[in-house]
Amino acid sequence: MNIMVLGSGGREYSIGRMLDKDEAVDKLYFAPGNGATSRLGENIEIKDYNELAQFAVDNEIDLTIVGPEAPLVDGVVDIFKAKGLNIFGPSKEAARLEGSKVYMKNFLAKYNIPTAAYIETDHIETAFKFIDTLTAPIVVKADGLCGGKGVIIAASKDEAKKAVSQMLSGKSFGDAGKNVIVEEFLDGYELSMFAICDGKDYILLPAAQDHKRLLDADKGPNTGGMGAYAPTPLVDEELYQKVKDRIIRPTLDGMQSENAPFEGVLFIGIMVVDNEPITLEFNVRFGDPECEILMPLMLTPASELFYKAATKQLDTLHVSFSNQYAVGVVMASENYPYKSSKPAEIVVDDIVHDEIEQNAHISYAGVSEEDGVLYATGGRVLVCVGVGDSIKQARDRAYMLCGQVHFSGKKLRTDIAYQAL
Ligand code: AMP
Ligand code: GLY
Repeated sequence: MNIMVLGSGGREYSIGRMLDKDEAVDKLYFAPGNGATSRLGENIEIKDYNELAQFAVDNEIDLTIVGPEAPLVDGVVDIFKAKGLNIFGPSKEAARLEGSKVYMKNFLAKYNIPTAAYIETDHIETAFKFIDTLTAPIVVKADGLCGGKGVIIAASKDEAKKAVSQMLSGKSFGDAGKNVIVEEFLDGYELSMFAICDGKDYILLPAAQDHKRLLDADKGPNTGGMGAYAPTPLVDEELYQKVKDRIIRPTLDGMQSENAPFEGVLFIGIMVVDNEPITLEFNVRFGDPECEILMPLMLTPASELFYKAATKQLDTLHVSFSNQYAVGVVMASENYPYKSSKPAEIVVDDIVHDEIEQNAHISYAGVSEEDGVLYATGGRVLVCVGVGDSIKQARDRAYMLCGQVHFSGKKLRTDIAYQAL
């Protein structure tokens, strides 16, 4: 099977790493990939989606897997399908679950899927009136994609009103803020859950926890995610069942009723409040760094899983997961998440320790390559992943590997998985 992976992050590297080890895979392409994916397959420099689809036809690519949200929201899946190609990801219409928070919230309300009480409006007085009925903190969200920055947790009513004014005037997020959501603050613990969907059936992966803040003890600014682990012991069978019955099943059925069957990864951001799962948001792709820790726990070959999902055959697939744990620690560059940093050479010590050699690895993200040397060029540079029989063992292995990776200005959290330990 020839497979192409769209994207350039650690998420795409980790999918590629599994495909590289997969006996069913012949040729592997990344578009555009990064400085390390070229060690797993071939990087393709085509940006236009129509040209990329033609490349897939010409090179007999049997399956394309889309990593990030932007191409999905832009409709890359529709373009590939129009050429009769197999592609794993939601259509442009279904990708609105992530592309528009207003669409998502109204969908949740229509199908009685639990979510925070909210209003959606482009009218400042309506927003202010609703804010006056809430108690702080109050959550204000821009409608469109804002690269993870469009959510404001306001500490007071005044701050919430200021955030609404700035969004509606187009000052803070341009067109993405022309509609806003104002919602109640949910106080609980957060989970990331991922369902691989084929429109009708789905496979739920082990629940993960991300660490969104830059610094230890969840301090500092929000980031794309500084580390993750799975499965989390915070979820028991009862909670998994509630998520399936109250969120995933009604979402797949609802999207079918909307004539936008959901294919791809449904990423459910969940807040657990008094043991009840409430939907914070949907994304229509894997989380990053969550993907990097979920991939090593999959025992079913990745080619089979994604191919069956893309061809609506999940009902014939039995997926098995390892009974181990995985912990991923992000190493970011000096100025992340504020601005870019100077390229820095990455040096990985020779790994002489068998335990690390066999149970830990690096998923590369923001890196470029020159003459066989890797340079840190992105915000999140790489993820050190450890696997083990307990969360503690997996975490210790991840951190041991971190100690062997060097680049100028490297930055990491030292408390990944603290909630489980
Ligand atoms: P979102 O992009 O909607 O997931 O929001 C980003 C982050 O803001 C989430 O991961 C939560 O940590 C936080 N958040 C969003 N909505 C709420 C809410 N209603 N209550 C509490 N925290 C929230
Ligand atoms: N790690 C969270 C995300 O990918 O959105």
